[in-house]
Amino acid sequence: MSSLSTNPPEHDVSLAAARRAVAAAIRIVVFTGAGVSAESGIPTFRDALTGLWARHDPERLASADGFLAEPPLVWRWYAARRAAVRDCAPNPAHHAITRLQARQPGTTVVTQNVDGLHARAGNVDPVELHGNIVRARCLDECGWSGMADALEASDGRVPPHCPRCGALARPDVVWFGEMLPVAAWQRAEDACCAADLCLVVGTSGLVHPAAGLPLLAKAAGASIVVIGPAPTPLDAEADVVVRATAGTVLPAIVA
Ligand code: OAD
Repeated sequence: MSSLSTNPPEHDVSLAAARRAVAAAIRIVVFTGAGVSAESGIPTFRDALTGLWARHDPERLASADGFLAEPPLVWRWYAARRAAVRDCAPNPAHHAITRLQARQPGTTVVTQNVDGLHARAGNVDPVELHGNIVRARCLDECGWSGMADALEASDGRVPPHCPRCGALARPDVVWFGEMLPVAAWQRAEDACCAADLCLVVGTSGLVHPAAGLPLLAKAAGASIVVIGPAPTPLDAEADVVVRATAGTVLPAIVA
């Protein structure tokens, strides 16, 4: 494994190794977390001070029990995050992935992010493991899902109600303790099992089952390249670690 940041030559070595790995790969999984959106101005979850979970209680705001206890509070928190995301734009890391997919069509984006920035950057059909905050769905799982802002505007209540069955609507994201969407998980697993390279970008690698995907790719024979400014448990599994922010190095790595 090669890594580092404080020593420029070693940083250059890891950057060059990452570039070679990407250039040689045919079926790439780009596995992303909140760090890939940090340079768009969207806070991560676990970074000290700036991370959302440093300032907010995930049990209260990101669990079904929390929602049932205080539906208006939780709905408003997601509405505020939706508004913030609307005001942000994809950054050079998202755009670099678009260019990579154009050059290597066997590239699949698998993201834990709910901000939709991969799709807005033109990434092809990203696998959204944890849902998407622009959507809402029926709390009682009648099958309805739709755009949260439109539902809010037409319903007027907080939270709005499901237009099909009248139950409460909830953000269409995966909360702690919930299953990941089956179809998204299946696509992610299939892509990892077929990959020859897994590019891990901007995730702490702490939330399972998503964090197990790079290990699945590795078990199936893929190389692992990790990009991020801080150490993560996935570093130990990596062939190359580039200790830098995604927006600064990803454009060069995929160039
Ligand atoms: P975390 O907040 O746990 O980790 C973000 C990672 O990005 C950290 O390793 C940071 O060092 C790194 N990072 C920060 N800035 C970066 C930058 N500019 N470029 C690259 N990396 C950077 O976020 P996730 O790993 O995505 O779950 O968290 C996983 C899940 O936990 C999220 O999907 C969310 C959360 O609870 C749900 O919403 C279901």
